[in-house]
Amino acid sequence: YAQLNDLAKAAGLTYFGSATDNSELTDTEYTSILSNTSEFGQITPGNTQKWEYTEATEGTFDYTKGDVITSFAANNSQLVRCHNLIWYSQLPSWVSSGTWTNATLIAAMKAHIQSEVTHYKGQCYAWDVVNEAFDDSGNYRTSVFYETIGPEYIPIAFETAALYDPNVKLYYNDYNIEYAGVKATAALNLVKDLKARGIQIDGVGMQGHFIVGSTPSLATQSANLKSFIDLGVEVAYTELDIRFSSLPPTSTGLTTQATDYVNTVQACLDNMPGCVGVTIWDYTDKYSWVPSTFSGAGDACLWYANYTHHPAYDAVTSVL
Ligand code: XIL
Repeated sequence: YAQLNDLAKAAGLTYFGSATDNSELTDTEYTSILSNTSEFGQITPGNTQKWEYTEATEGTFDYTKGDVITSFAANNSQLVRCHNLIWYSQLPSWVSSGTWTNATLIAAMKAHIQSEVTHYKGQCYAWDVVNEAFDDSGNYRTSVFYETIGPEYIPIAFETAALYDPNVKLYYNDYNIEYAGVKATAALNLVKDLKARGIQIDGVGMQGHFIVGSTPSLATQSANLKSFIDLGVEVAYTELDIRFSSLPPTSTGLTTQATDYVNTVQACLDNMPGCVGVTIWDYTDKYSWVPSTFSGAGDACLWYANYTHHPAYDAVTSVL
């Protein structure tokens, strides 16, 4: 049968991809599907390119774990969405609890970005340069970066990333920007501001961590993608999963989940070539982050934990 990435590419997308994580790569049943380029043409490291892994001690860089993922992708000729450079979460304590001035934190940020972008130069389709900078009210999220440097930390991060890999696409990535509202407006204004200042930003990632039955409609998502594309950036769904708030799912619920997945993928298809691809935040419920993060929730992926398909899998393959 036809599979996700083959279908996505035939439809005109650049890739259909999945997040993964190091501990999963010892599971051969798991890797046999992840490495199948008919299913997945793109990989995102779910954790091990984050600051807490790559610079746990100031000035000591360790890309060993991240390299396991990028090597896996390279061995299978899969694109990599590199994730991420600047985020308020999963920081080493020397960053999150350090004693900083404006100048010293800017210097630490620049050193981190220089090292990591240089290390992965030529290996990334895109970098998520800044992740989740806004809260749900559309205000700048409190973080060591915002508290110390102010909003200027974002342009500084993009300018710095651009220096060390001329060919990588630079993305802003966030959730709850998949539909019009104050948070999407904040992200749109960020794109406008960077562009007006001549600072490189190439894309905006819609994370797409949705809930079955509360996923924005096709029309809502499609119009929202267009609002970003109209500013001259590409867009992608970067972390798609659609969870049940309580388990087990009903058969009606599984049908709703299929519709929610289809609406999201179709919104991307309707906005080609501005929308370039869809990445699911791991492909199997066996390794989804959802149960550990949202109490009682789960079954958010396209494959069940036993590697059989959700109905949503067949629905997505038929819309692609
Ligand atoms: C998640 C990982 O999947 C988990 O394993 C980890 O414990 C926390 O982070 N938004 C993001 C991702 O941008 O980096 C997050 O990944 C999920 C939410």
